[in-house]
Amino acid sequence: MIRTDKNVFILETNQTAYAFRTVETGVLQHLYYGCRLPRAEDYDSAPVILNQPGNSLVDNDGRCREDLLQEAGTVGWGDLRAPLVDAMLPDGGRSCDFRFSHFERPEHALPEGLPASEGGETLKVVLKEHTHALYLELYYTVFEDTDVIARWSRLINDEAETVWVTRLMSQQLDLPAGEYDLITFRGAWAREMDMVRQNLAGELRWSSNTGGSSNRCNPFAMVCRRGCGEEAGEAWALNLVYSGNHLGIAQVNAYGSVRLTQGMGELGWQLMPGEKLDSPQAVMTYSDRGFSGISQHMHPFIKKHIVRGAWRDRERPVLVNSWEGFYFKVSHRKVVQLAKNARNIGAELLVLDDGWFKGRSDDSRALGDWKADPKKLPDGLAVLAREVNEQGVRFGLWVEPEMVSEQSELFAAHPDWILGHKNQAIGRNQYVLDLTRPEVCSYVCDSMTAILSGADIAYIKWDMNRIMSDVFSPALPPERQGEASHRYILGLYGILDKLTKAFPDVLFESCASGGNRFDLGMLCYMPQVWASDNTDAACRSHIQWGYSYGYPQSVLGCHVSDSPNHQTLRRSPLRSRFNVAAMGLLGYELNPGELSSDKIQEIREQVEFYKAHRRLLQFGQFHRCPSAAGECFTMVTSPNGEEAAGVHFVWENQPNPQSVPLYCRGLEGEKTYHLTSRSTPPRITDFGSLANYMSPIRIRSGSLVEKAADRFVKLPQDALELKASGRAFCQRGFYPIQPFGGTGFNGATRLMRDFDSRLYLWTEDAE
Ligand code: GLA
Repeated sequence: MIRTDKNVFILETNQTAYAFRTVETGVLQHLYYGCRLPRAEDYDSAPVILNQPGNSLVDNDGRCREDLLQEAGTVGWGDLRAPLVDAMLPDGGRSCDFRFSHFERPEHALPEGLPASEGGETLKVVLKEHTHALYLELYYTVFEDTDVIARWSRLINDEAETVWVTRLMSQQLDLPAGEYDLITFRGAWAREMDMVRQNLAGELRWSSNTGGSSNRCNPFAMVCRRGCGEEAGEAWALNLVYSGNHLGIAQVNAYGSVRLTQGMGELGWQLMPGEKLDSPQAVMTYSDRGFSGISQHMHPFIKKHIVRGAWRDRERPVLVNSWEGFYFKVSHRKVVQLAKNARNIGAELLVLDDGWFKGRSDDSRALGDWKADPKKLPDGLAVLAREVNEQGVRFGLWVEPEMVSEQSELFAAHPDWILGHKNQAIGRNQYVLDLTRPEVCSYVCDSMTAILSGADIAYIKWDMNRIMSDVFSPALPPERQGEASHRYILGLYGILDKLTKAFPDVLFESCASGGNRFDLGMLCYMPQVWASDNTDAACRSHIQWGYSYGYPQSVLGCHVSDSPNHQTLRRSPLRSRFNVAAMGLLGYELNPGELSSDKIQEIREQVEFYKAHRRLLQFGQFHRCPSAAGECFTMVTSPNGEEAAGVHFVWENQPNPQSVPLYCRGLEGEKTYHLTSRSTPPRITDFGSLANYMSPIRIRSGSLVEKAADRFVKLPQDALELKASGRAFCQRGFYPIQPFGGTGFNGATRLMRDFDSRLYLWTEDAE
């Protein structure tokens, strides 16, 4: 709900409130962002400092802005913090003084050409620069149901001369003096979303200048009170509905108060007379229940207001992806066989990854030439898709449309279509296409439309495998080069808007070498993202844990791959690879045809289990539960509290380990639950020479005797069954079966290898 009370604006959600007011001079003073307060007057209590001691400045009206909490900081006027807007006025000065003009309550108000969250109730506040015809519009959209507020800014130049904009941020949040920490999610290729917590002092930044939202630093960040933890304490979270460069600044000023600003970062934008510039939309939320509260606001918000279209609430198919099974060595016969194998394990979609288009024998060529390779797929995509469908699975395809290889027909025909000069730092032998140019966007759109309308394609994996190095467009004059990176993203969004509207039933999965463009902007077009190229179960459980702070598992592509893993060469149990992938959108990135019959059977049972609990696993509420060091325990609970699932992952098996209970989250206190565990029987091969302790005959590791024993000797499998109230599972916890730790093994022992895990299921006990 949005309330305006005299000069105070109050934006209320179910549990939170955001308030600001206009002071007499027209400057917008930020008042509060926290829990909802009972009375409107409760929000209007902050002082305006009239006289700052020492060498601080006062404005024309005698007010000091240096420590004034504000909504829209500018350059000059004694405010020394990072501004929301930095614009050079026609005379070269940058000191802008934006003051309140009026407010409106528009029905629809979205930034032009940019994705934005759907729904909510909007307030538009218009500010005018005191001495120039320059207007700053601030938009606030309140999502009451999910406790999120979205914001963006528009700058309008009604001067007769050009204004140069170097910064137009999406949101600014000023917090009162206190002790805070900044939490950001940093990483690199195959190491995404590592949580970094830093004491907030001076100035800290979280940003990307890779041309995309980047795996180096995700736009999602949190600021919290120093003592805040998973379940208690105050935290604020910010994110951006944008896929390009971003900049977040967290500053503590000389008086200890904090300014957070976030937006698309530095620009060099020429705003001509009569023109306007829109920032991307940003989102923020507040929690007084620690980081879990942040996730419990952001997850439903993304599920309801960011992800859209036919697939928003639809269960996602279990897929088999050809990449790690075949790499570039694909052929019609192999793909049809893979479809058969996919069907055999119960998968519903076969995704033909890289390697299918003309001349694509490795990653040094062919990007841009989006026609089926006549040698590998002589009958073309339409026939292939039909034959895959005949095997009982849908057909999906990998594309990387924003790129061109130097060795390609497209590059030969249009060498000037690349972003940057030919001589630039190069990644994966490919250039980025210049999407600031309408004719290049049309080419991309047309070639993708031809693919999608030429064959029965149910799914597209849209990849983007390099970062940008020379963000220069030959199509723009020198004075507009500072616009190139934002114009690229606008071009991309134009393409995605057209394609997703033209093919509304196609399931799109965004990918950029895994998580190099994992952001709310892409999620407005594509309901899921390939979270990381790293499919190692141990790494993945860490990466998925990082994503979970800001993103729900319903947008996370998670695959079971072979062992040893192709990124780490680590061996891990198949059950554990499944358990980790089951806490997201399940797929298999291997060729089931190369597995032994018992592994295939194990996978069949996994897929069957996943499908039976798919709504819970994909769309249930996600919880990070307390766990011991070196372990991680996550749960999902159904909205009606009838069902829950959880995975307890252990990095390193320990001898003679401690017994530590696992504490559940999200179960309903008064309900009684029946807990069961899901495991697979141990194998003789798990024990190596230790098997001789029990065996009447000598078994050598790797011998035929061992293989025979492995086949015929069935060892007892651990199986936990418990009944307790939801409150007992959460407060008192439960003890997993004692793990094998050096001595004694029987059915009451849980055989854990390194990187092993158990999956638990809770069902409401009706009695
Ligand atoms: C990227 C993707 C992978 C795969 C390859 C194909 O690395 O992240 O999943 O599709 O490209 O070249």
